[in-house]
Amino acid sequence: MAKKKSRLDFINMKKNGEKLTWVTAYDFPMASFAEAAEIDMILVGDSLGMVTLGYQGTIPVTMEDCISHCRAVRRGAPNTFVMGDMPFGSYQVSDEEAVRNAVRFLKEADMDSIKLEGGVRVKSRIKAIADAGILVCGHIGLTPQSSGTLGGFKAQGLDPDSARLVIEDALAVQEAGAFAILVEAIPPELSAFLAKKLTIPVYGIGGGQCDGQVLICGDMMGMFQAFTPKFVKVYANVGETITSAFKEYVEDVRSGKFPGDEHCYHVRKGFEEEYAAMLKEFE
Ligand code: KIV
Repeated sequence: MAKKKSRLDFINMKKNGEKLTWVTAYDFPMASFAEAAEIDMILVGDSLGMVTLGYQGTIPVTMEDCISHCRAVRRGAPNTFVMGDMPFGSYQVSDEEAVRNAVRFLKEADMDSIKLEGGVRVKSRIKAIADAGILVCGHIGLTPQSSGTLGGFKAQGLDPDSARLVIEDALAVQEAGAFAILVEAIPPELSAFLAKKLTIPVYGIGGGQCDGQVLICGDMMGMFQAFTPKFVKVYANVGETITSAFKEYVEDVRSGKFPGDEHCYHVRKGFEEEYAAMLKEFE
């Protein structure tokens, strides 16, 4: 079994040009599959709102949802670095509230770190949480929790003015004391620039080549079918596999093919006649 990685491993991986592998998981089975595959890091993303809770976006996700799913993931992946994602509303109000909620991820769900969205505008939040001794990962570029203000789920940094804002956000996140930064949906030129410029690791989703990659398990496994962003590579069609298995089950039950004799518990040997006689008594 691979050893659980730490912040120092992530820094060394960046120095050595070793790419970090990272996926989301929201429950025990997915987390245990990720750990069995020796994935370096798991994110219990607030994407759980869309992928597992059936919301249209991430805004309705609560701290209670996150803590509950983080606990399940920790049980499934006890030897993997796991990051909890701070949901909308858990860090917007004040630095104090942000620290209080970040602490909950560690104390109540045994997380190794937390992630929050934003750059310049959440600099004081990142600093306050990092100063409390908690590993913080920034998240800039396309930030789904503020997709409303971005005009939708839109790639960022596509022109020089927009790219300048992304760079300013990245510098603010590093300066505030984050141990890593996630860039979402920005051009590969910009991710590569940031990975070279920053001393902390820069991981991407829809950011081209940088220090590592994250994908949402529902997207890559074909389990989230509402839409598939351009940056997703689909590695399996688990949704189709499950639907066709359910269909086969429905046919089997309706036709009497299931359960078969091999799925039944049989009367204890030597009691068959007595058993039949007892049933007869009740006819
Ligand atoms: O919530 C999430 O899954 C994310 C992804 C962009 C990785 O933040």
